[in-house]
Amino acid sequence: MIPIRKKIWELPNINPTSEKDYLSRRTVLAGTSALIGASLLPSKKAHADLHPLKAQTNPNYASLDRELTAESEAISYNNFYEFGSHKSIAPAAQALATEPWKITIDGLVSSPLELDIDDILGRVSLEERLYRLRCVETWAMAVPWIGFPFKKLLDIAQPLQSAKYIVMETDIQKDVMSGLSQSWYPWPYKEGLSIQEADNDLAFLVVGLYGKKLPPQNGSPIRLAVPWKYGFKSVKSIKKFTFVDSIQPTFWTAVAGNEYGFWANVNPDVPHRRWSQSSEKMIGTGERFDTQIFNGYGDAVASLYQGQLNNPKYFF
Ligand code: MTE
Repeated sequence: MIPIRKKIWELPNINPTSEKDYLSRRTVLAGTSALIGASLLPSKKAHADLHPLKAQTNPNYASLDRELTAESEAISYNNFYEFGSHKSIAPAAQALATEPWKITIDGLVSSPLELDIDDILGRVSLEERLYRLRCVETWAMAVPWIGFPFKKLLDIAQPLQSAKYIVMETDIQKDVMSGLSQSWYPWPYKEGLSIQEADNDLAFLVVGLYGKKLPPQNGSPIRLAVPWKYGFKSVKSIKKFTFVDSIQPTFWTAVAGNEYGFWANVNPDVPHRRWSQSSEKMIGTGERFDTQIFNGYGDAVASLYQGQLNNPKYFF
C-alpha cells in the first residue's frame, strides 16, 4: 500500500523449513475422504501462535499451482496498519486482546445480533483451504487457511431483501494499536463485499492457518480471505458486519480511491496507477509468476461480473 517502505528482497529469510513439517501433517489430515467438522481446542490464554486447530482439507481447494509459502514467512511479513505501516508488525500485534470477542451483526438484517465468536464457531464446520493471496503491492503468498464459507454467516445474519452490500470493520484497541495515532487514516479499517460476492463459495472467513489458530498479526480471531481480490480486501480481526443497500467508503477508498478501488479484482492488464500488475513475486522464495485475471479463480467468480470484464472500475 502507500508507501511501500521495504522491498521484499531486503527481508531476512527466516527458517523456511517449517513448511515441510506443515505439509507432512496436512497429508495425514487429508487422508480421509469426507469433510468433517473441526473443533477449536479450548484455551483461555492470550493468543500464542502454537494453538493447534484441526480441520479436514476441502478437496476442492486441496492443491495450488505453486508451493505453499513457509509458515514462518506468512506470520512475519504482514500488513496490519493498526500496528504500524511496515511489514514487521508481528511482535506488536501480540498485544491484541482477542478473548472475549463479541461480533456485532447489524444494519439491514431481520434482527441485529451480538454474538460471541464461539457462538458462531458452534454453528459452522471448519475446513482447510489452500488459497493464493495476491497483494496489490505485487507480492504474493500461498496459504493454507482454516475457516468456514462466508455464506454460513449470511445464514446466521438473515439479511433483508434490501441488503446489497456488507461492511466489515476491524476492532479498535487504542491502547495496543500504535498505528491509530496516524490520524490521517480513516480508522477503523473497513472493507466491503457485495452480498453476491459473500455468497460465492470462495469467500471464506478464516480462524486459522497452517493447522493452528490464527495468530494476531494475521487477523485473529477472525478475518476474511477473498483470493480473487487484492489482499487489502481481506480485512482482519473483524468485530462488526453491517448490511447496507449501497457501497460505502472503505479504509482504502477513503485514503486513495483513485488507486485502491472498492472492487479490487486482480487483473494483470489493469495496472495500478504507479506500477504494473502483470507479475507477482512470492514471499520467501522470490519466485516470480505471471499474474492471472481474478488471481486464477475466474472459473469460480467471473460470472459475478458478467459483461464487465472490460470495465477497469472492477479491477483496481
Ligand atoms: N486488515 C486490517 N484491519 N488492517 C490492515 O492493515 N491490511 C490488508 C489486509 N487486511 C490490513 C487488513 C492488506 S493490505 C493485506 S495484503 C492483507 O491484510 C495481508 O494479510 P497477511 O498479513 O495475513 O498476509
